[in-house]
Amino acid sequence: MSSVDIEDLPGVGPATADRLREAGYLTVESIATASPADLSEATEIGETTAKKIIRAAGALADIGGFKTGTDILLRRKDVLKLKTLVPEFDEMLEGGLETQAITEVYGEFGSGKSQIVHQMAVNCQLPPELGGLGGSCLYIDTENTFRPERIEQMVNGLEFKKLPEGYEIPPVETFLANIHVARAHSSDHQMLLIDAARELATQMELEGKPVKLVIIDSLTGLFRAEYAGRGTLAGRQQKLNRHMHDLFKLIDNLNAVGIVTNQVMASPGVLFGDPTRPIGGNIVGHTATFRIYLRKSKGGKRIARLVDSPNLPEGEAAFSVEMDGLKEA
Ligand SMILES: Nc1ncnc2c1ncn2[C@@H]1O[C@H](COP(=O)(O)OP(=O)(O)O)[C@@H](O)[C@H]1O
Ligand SMILES: [Mg+2]
Repeated sequence: MSSVDIEDLPGVGPATADRLREAGYLTVESIATASPADLSEATEIGETTAKKIIRAAGALADIGGFKTGTDILLRRKDVLKLKTLVPEFDEMLEGGLETQAITEVYGEFGSGKSQIVHQMAVNCQLPPELGGLGGSCLYIDTENTFRPERIEQMVNGLEFKKLPEGYEIPPVETFLANIHVARAHSSDHQMLLIDAARELATQMELEGKPVKLVIIDSLTGLFRAEYAGRGTLAGRQQKLNRHMHDLFKLIDNLNAVGIVTNQVMASPGVLFGDPTRPIGGNIVGHTATFRIYLRKSKGGKRIARLVDSPNLPEGEAAFSVEMDGLKEA
């Protein structure tokens, strides 16, 4: 979140601030990038006043342009880390998945992508002392693979040597209540769900359960299916890029973690070259900040490989998927 409150904007009193928040404008940044017409409609203030507020927000907000390294460092100080709670995995991530970033988890069918996002939907609700972010989760499910039963098993599987004083692991129902799942039926629908997510996130913030994790599992499935066999992939690529950009804006505003999954084909025919390159087109490309490649290994073990990170060395971590959730291999 911005360090400047929307009340700090000239012309924004408490009543207008409330209306802005209800309409989804939680930060100075979101106001700075709004259109006067939208803002005016949302808050029942005149367009002229709306324009003034937007201009003031623009002056205060961070909406692009050049920044100094010092400014960026300051913003990086807000970055929080969400743990997988598998020590080796968290070590590879130097503490966990970062907020203000989208992590792409890719791998073959059955490699554990959906298991990871289920586990993170649980972990993000834990307090920071236990590796969580004390928040709630939004889950866009495009393949009908979200399973509340899995959440239940994973909550029951949580084990801590020591709980912070006064903290009790909440009941399974609480964990389930803080995961908001939406089924996406088409790629267009999937894209619209980001708008719905923004509104829901505003509501959750007001209820004191800030959204700290947004999941899209799978990011690419519907796009792939709908564009299969078409002559040009440029349209698909453009839509996906916009979708990723919308997701990034959302999680950046919320200081939340974004995780998307991407299924890639096995390529037994490839003997040379990089086997971690998604076959069938790298359609997520460079929009994700972190990329984790999953593969199955001997004895049910799974290997997560960190690929192309802006600030972490490449590395690998082994883990296993058990009834209780993700565990040390
Ligand atoms: N309750 C469970 N107990 C142990 N392992 C499980 C359980 N549920 C799923 N798994 C493991 O997770 C695998 C599926 O992983 P999943 O994340 O759904 O794959 P994908 O990468 O296609 O999303 C299964 O093949 C199984 O090995
Ligand atoms: Mg899956």
